[in-house]
Amino acid sequence: MSAGRLSGIAPLTLGFCAFFGPRPLGAEESRPTYLDPAAPLESRVEDLLGRMTLEEKLSLVHADSKFTTAAIPRLGIPRRWMSDGPNGVREDVGPDTWQVAGHTDDFATCMPVLIGVAATWNTEAARIYGNVIGEEARKRGKDIMLGPGVNIQRTPLNGRTSEFLGEDPFLASRMVVSYIRAVQSHGVASCVKHFAANNQETQRGSIDVEMDERTLREIYLPAFRAAVQEGGAWAVMGAYNKFRGQFCCENDYLLNHILKGEWGFQGLVMSDWGGTHDTREAVFNGLDLEMGTEPGPRRGAEQAPPAAGSSQSPYERYYLAGAFRDGLNRGDFPVSALDEKVRRNLRVMIATHVFDGREEGSLNTAAHQEAARKVAEEGIVLLKNDGGALPLAADKLNSIAVIGENAVRLQAYGGDSARIKALYEISPLEGILRLVGARTNVTYSPGYRKDGGPDLIEKAVAAARSADVAIVVGGLVHAHPFDSEGEDRKDLNLPWGQDELIRRVVAANPHTIVVIVSGSPVEMSGWLDQVPAVVQAWYGGTEGGNALASVLFGGVNPSGKLPCSYPKRIEDSPAHALGEYPGRNGVVHYAEGLLVGYRWFDTKQIEPLFPFGYGLSYTKFEYSGLTIAAGSGPNDPIVTVAFQITNTGDRAGAEVAQLYVHQGRPSLPRPLKELKGFSKVALNPGEKKTVSIALDRRAFAFYDPARSGWVAEADDFTLQIGSSSRDIRLEGRYHLGETTVEK
Ligand code: BGC
Repeated sequence: MSAGRLSGIAPLTLGFCAFFGPRPLGAEESRPTYLDPAAPLESRVEDLLGRMTLEEKLSLVHADSKFTTAAIPRLGIPRRWMSDGPNGVREDVGPDTWQVAGHTDDFATCMPVLIGVAATWNTEAARIYGNVIGEEARKRGKDIMLGPGVNIQRTPLNGRTSEFLGEDPFLASRMVVSYIRAVQSHGVASCVKHFAANNQETQRGSIDVEMDERTLREIYLPAFRAAVQEGGAWAVMGAYNKFRGQFCCENDYLLNHILKGEWGFQGLVMSDWGGTHDTREAVFNGLDLEMGTEPGPRRGAEQAPPAAGSSQSPYERYYLAGAFRDGLNRGDFPVSALDEKVRRNLRVMIATHVFDGREEGSLNTAAHQEAARKVAEEGIVLLKNDGGALPLAADKLNSIAVIGENAVRLQAYGGDSARIKALYEISPLEGILRLVGARTNVTYSPGYRKDGGPDLIEKAVAAARSADVAIVVGGLVHAHPFDSEGEDRKDLNLPWGQDELIRRVVAANPHTIVVIVSGSPVEMSGWLDQVPAVVQAWYGGTEGGNALASVLFGGVNPSGKLPCSYPKRIEDSPAHALGEYPGRNGVVHYAEGLLVGYRWFDTKQIEPLFPFGYGLSYTKFEYSGLTIAAGSGPNDPIVTVAFQITNTGDRAGAEVAQLYVHQGRPSLPRPLKELKGFSKVALNPGEKKTVSIALDRRAFAFYDPARSGWVAEADDFTLQIGSSSRDIRLEGRYHLGETTVEK
């Protein structure tokens, strides 16, 4: 533990304050309540709030640089630092521009992108991931980490698919809770984002999202609710888009009514960078902290811009700065509105121990690198493996032709706000060389290049032909216009002639392995049936190349499962099938409603390329002995589902068993099946374990807008246990005896 946060800042000024209202920090007080760690949180908040001037309060509800709010030395309030992002602590920028600061102490561990941790289906992986983020954030002096993102994958083309946790609200909820608890255990606030319905980058700053209430509640909100109510997230970032006609950062229904009202959220709501649009709306509709507003004309801010050459701070021009002050002075806004925002900001500071002394944290440790590797290994998904093409037997191979630009491309420093200045990043080629380079002749040939080039395919084909095995490492890039911010992908295709390259390579050498490095699904129909083995590797971060090599050569048995469906063609995907992407005339209607991802493919009986929850292993698992037991007491889960899994192969491995619920005769239409439980089990060869999954009432419920609540109906339910959403191994029935409604 360090000496604590207060050690490095100006001492409190004791003495008289030349104004009425705020309580001065009196000389008679040895330690004011707000500095007393033993005092109740709310007493500390109220005590500190009562000591603040109007100007001090205003300074806490808007930025004073790209990623900070102002310090108030008089009260011992330090400057508050925020940082992206979801998969590591971003390099420092600014302070007043997006230019990198050029620091030498802001290298960090780059974890795999979030879709890669979702693919582990292991809440323990999310915990160790969050732990790295929390420890590194502390070492870098950050107070609030801007992530994780939990926006549901409505379309695989969303440019930020890699930054989120897939298409299923239950999976995303379980993972986000684990992640946030771990981050916040280090005295760092997690800021879950982007609230809500930020499901495309196309027109993200203006698109107006329309959907029915049930879809909102069942698909797009559960991960946020879990983050707040179970994970205890101290901060929420509003989205750029509009929801039902109102910008999300100033959205009365989402922020006041649902988040703060129904869910009882006590923390702070910050805007996305530049997501604030109007002073009055921001004052009244639930925004507590304005960040990232760019200079420009201000709607609703009846304040003249600073004259050219003026010394006025550009942050004075924020909606919640000068214009807010003017409105308060005119009596347009009550001071209580400001107080409530400040209260929330102070609550987060105090709850995350800003005044109590916090741990120092650690950066780029061997333990963090090990965690990055473990998560990357566990998230890699084996999509195809005919004839045991994988794992490769290193001792039997004399030569390997590694082909494809992604074998050497570093991806950590990409993805805009998710970009990490990694201390190091092991590329796929480097990972392979480290593992087998000493005994095997490994050649590299780009095969394609993002920026083009002559003869690339011919040379790659020749290399493949003369090698024992070819490994094509292709996919997308963590950059525009692929897996990145601000724009969506145009289609599902592999770019730069990779389909042709793969076909030619496999024709030259049938022992060809394809590795897709991407943060979102790609189309494979042009070559999938010709290639024996395919691996989805995501953007693996610092240790990505080592993790991939371990999987390819069998040191690690793959256990990742897809957190999203892979469509055969984009037209099969719900939003695209219905022509409801990216919207018309500035509005996008989520006409598919609840039928997102597998809910759509299953209900509409459209075969995906690879289904949700799918992923192979080098061993085999058998499922048996399903029992469904009703709970016995009022506090028990209402049902406990138990079954056995046996590893029937000859390698140790891990299986993700998935539990889907289907209701027999619901009074409102429901998707064919919905994920309500999962468990990842490690098994040695021949080993058998009992898996037990508890279901509460919510697992049987749907949201009924007419009753404004979650209804679990008296009915027959089918409980399906699967190795994927389309590989159901066991099935049983449960009869729910009585109908209940919960909020
Ligand atoms: C992104 C946020 C990010 C913020 C700050 C915005 O463009 O949408 O996710 O946290 O920038 O970098």
